[in-house]
This record gives sequence, C-alpha cells and structure tokens, in this order.
Amino acid sequence: MARTTKGAERSVSRLCSVGRPGDGEAPSLPPVPEALRRWTEESGAAGADPGPAGVTVAVVGLGYVGLPTALGLWEAGATVLGIDTSEQRLCDIRAGAVDLLPAQHAALVCAESSGAFSLTSDAGALGRADAVVVCVPTPVTERQEPDTRTLRAACASLVDRAVPGQLIVLTSTSHVGTTRELLIDPLAARGLVAEENVLVAFAPERIDPGNERHVPGNTPRVVGGAGPLSSRAAARLLRPTASRVHLVDGPETAEMAKLWENVFRAVNIALANELSDACLHFGLSPLTVLEAAATKPYGFMPFHPGPGAGGHCIPCDPYYLLGGLRSGPVAAPVVDAAMAALRERPAEVVRRAAGLLRDGGTGPAGARVLVLGVAYKEGVSDVRESPALRILELLAAQGAEVFYSDPHVPSLAVDGRVLQSVPDPSTLPCDLAVLHTAHPGWDLSWLAAVDLVLDTRFGRGSLSPAAAR
Ligand SMILES: NC(=O)c1ccc[n+]([C@@H]2O[C@H](COP(=O)([O-])OP(=O)(O)OC[C@H]3O[C@@H](n4cnc5c(N)ncnc54)[C@H](O)[C@@H]3O)[C@@H](O)[C@H]2O)c1
Repeated sequence: MARTTKGAERSVSRLCSVGRPGDGEAPSLPPVPEALRRWTEESGAAGADPGPAGVTVAVVGLGYVGLPTALGLWEAGATVLGIDTSEQRLCDIRAGAVDLLPAQHAALVCAESSGAFSLTSDAGALGRADAVVVCVPTPVTERQEPDTRTLRAACASLVDRAVPGQLIVLTSTSHVGTTRELLIDPLAARGLVAEENVLVAFAPERIDPGNERHVPGNTPRVVGGAGPLSSRAAARLLRPTASRVHLVDGPETAEMAKLWENVFRAVNIALANELSDACLHFGLSPLTVLEAAATKPYGFMPFHPGPGAGGHCIPCDPYYLLGGLRSGPVAAPVVDAAMAALRERPAEVVRRAAGLLRDGGTGPAGARVLVLGVAYKEGVSDVRESPALRILELLAAQGAEVFYSDPHVPSLAVDGRVLQSVPDPSTLPCDLAVLHTAHPGWDLSWLAAVDLVLDTRFGRGSLSPAAAR
C-alpha cells in the first residue's frame, strides 16, 4: 500500500508550498498573507512535497465519489474524518457492503483498522479538520431542475463551522458560480476571506464507478481555486489521488469544465442512439457501422447506443448548465434536444419490446417480460435514474407481467411496487428477455436459447449476434 508514514508534523502549511514541475500552469505566489504565512514557511523549509501526509481531512458525503476520495486521501497519508448524514450509509461502509473496486475494498479494511480513518454523522467534526472535501449529491427534481438543496445544506453547515486556516474543496458537480455563491461569499460574510485566512477551491470529480481501467490515480484532476494560494493548496491535497493536477484560473472555469465534459457525453450518447436508429432503418448493424467509423484515427470518438442514460451524472449534470442559462440570452438547443431524446429513450425501448411481442403473436398485455440487469451500468448496484426503471414501469402499464434479475440489485421499487431479483433468470419462463445491463462475469449464454431477446445495447458485448435483436 502506498500510504506513507505519518511522522511528519500535522500541519496544513504543507498544502500551500510551491508545486513541483508538471502541474500545469503554476502561477508564482503573491506575498503570503500573515494568516497563512506559517504554512509556506514550514513547507519551504521541508523542500519535499508531502502531499496530504500528516493533515486531517474531513470528507463530507461518503457516496460513490466521497468514499473512494476518502480512501485515496488516507492512502496518501492523511488522517481522514469521513462525515455522512446517513447512518445507514455509515453502517454499509463499516460492513463493506458498498460498491468499490477490489483494491478499494482492501484499502477500506486497512484504513478502518489504522486509527487514521474514522466515520461519523456528526458535522461537529468539521472544526477539527485542516482541509474539508465536499462530495454531496447534486440531483435534479422530477421536472429536471437542478436540486441543490443537499449541497446548500452541506455548504451552510460547513461555513458555520469553518475555522481560520482551513482549506475547503468542493467537488460536487454544480452550476457555474456555485463555489462563490455557497462558499466564498458566505465565508467572507463570517470574516473568513479566501486567500487571506481561508482557502477555497473547486475540483470536479471524474470517478467512473466500477471501471478498473480509469481509476482516480490514472486520471488528471482539474483544480480552480479562489486565488493562487487556494489553487496550490488544493492541488497539493489532491495530487496524490490523481495522475496530475491541471490548474485553471478560478472555480468558475473548473465548474464549467465539468459541465462541458458531461454535456459532451450526453449529446454524444443521444447522437449514437439517433444514428443507431438510422442504421436499423437502412437494415444495417449499428455496431458494425460504429466499429467501422471508429477506425478513423482523428476527430472521432465512439459512443455506444443504449437504453438511455442513468446514474448521477449524465441524466443530471446538463440540467445544471441549462438551469444556469435559463434567465439569460444564451440558449442551448442542442443540449436541450439531446436531454429530451435521452429521456424519451426508455419509451422507445418499450415500443420495440411491444413490437417484438406482437411479432411473436402475443403483444405486451399478459406477456411475461424479464429485464436483465437494472443497474444503470455494469459492475455497480446504482439504479439512480436507470432507464430500466422506466422500461419496467411502461411495460407494466401495458399489462405485461414484469420480472427482473440483477446480481447487484436484490430488490427494486417500480411504480410503488417492490420487485425481487430473480435469482436464476435462466429458469424463468418468459415471452421476452430485455437485456439492459450485462454485468461483468454474469453468464448470459443461456439467452441464446430464448426465443425473443431485445438487446438494448444493440449487440454490444459478449452476446452472440443471434441473441441480439
Ligand atoms: N457517481 C458518480 O459516478 C459521479 C462521478 C463524478 C462526479 N459525481 C458528482 O459527485 C457528487 C456526489 O455524487 P455521488 O454519486 O457520490 O452521490 P451519492 O449519493 O453516492 O453520495 C452522497 C453522500 O452524501 C451524503 N450526504 C448528503 N448530505 C450530506 C451532508 N449534508 N453531510 C454529509 N453527508 C451528506 C449522502 O448520505 C450520501 O451518502 C455529485 O455532485 C455528482 O454529480 C458523481
């Protein structure tokens, strides 16, 4: 394990020292305000870059982002105070019943027995932290408006408890201006002025749960501080948890960069769906066409068609851009249309399912339909915004008897009804199987013997082409 020893004196001062080469833009530090002087003096004397070693870091919100962040900081030598308002989540973490990669599970076991990793629901712990990293959710409402209530509550609690000398890093995806509105300005109203006696930055998270290829350690991190001291301090804190840090000129640039990234994905997924439908119209295999197009070595990036978009990012983040533009003169019709198309996609899947059933002679009413994999992506149990929820709902509304199987999701609430995962789906007699998410290592070879299969991924993955309609 890469965790360093903790002999180093516990001090945030190290966070403010000059970065090492290769960190992106590295502005020269302005004269150091008196309240922050001891930090730079100590780190200057040490010479080496200790990262967060010896520093106490509170991580607020221990979900899909916060828990791996806390573990990464612990591995880098920080003492971690993990804070989550959900006692259930804390229990699940203690029991190891959480979605983590195998290496992160191993780190969690070590961290918990190290004495340098504690879990609490008490926000009072914030006052003991040298640095605070905020990773709370930023969902949307049912009407696709940004729902910032949780973020606002978390920031307000943090501002109330902030102490001079703290570094505060917001990582939750949100609208442009959030860091200033919810942290920098309210802190200043309390006399905690960024760059003078407190440090504030926005550093968006890029974690891809369940993906072993792209982990935080091999992914660059964008950091935008309230000023150069804040940027450098945040970069020092986060550098060991990323492949490199890319400094930008302020929190707003970092906030917009995150929105740009995920709007790009949303629009491209919607486009892939549209082009895949066009392929089918011409009697072509979308996957074969996509593979051919993807041989172009520049100016093209393959996005795969599918049942829609799920999770806490793609179905939500673009609305944080659209919400921020709503009252101004700039429109974003491409983003608007892409999001509308993604919302409509599960209904299109159901139209196809109904068509297949009609072709098979039954129609949806009374048909037994089995949805395979309901998590929004492979390898996780996250069903937030999963297209499978809407697909099951719409099929049931058409009179189908719906079942699902997902080794990661034991039960699922659909339209007020709780369904249980079918343990061995290969034994369930059904009129149609809808493949939604194929988890790694899940043997679906038996599908080849099922009469009607709708592969919402358009043949992507390991299924035989015969089974993928
Ligand atoms: N999930 C992803 O793949 C992903 C990837 C990149 C960025 N993000 C962004 O990161 C942020 C967090 O997302 P997530 O998926 O980790 O959310 P999550 O729902 O998995 O976890 C959030 C945690 O915060 C806790 N919480 C809520 N309010 C709190 C408070 N006031 N104090 C302490 N804890 C509190 C919740 O109980 C929950 O455990 C969001 O802005 C999201 O857009 C998510």
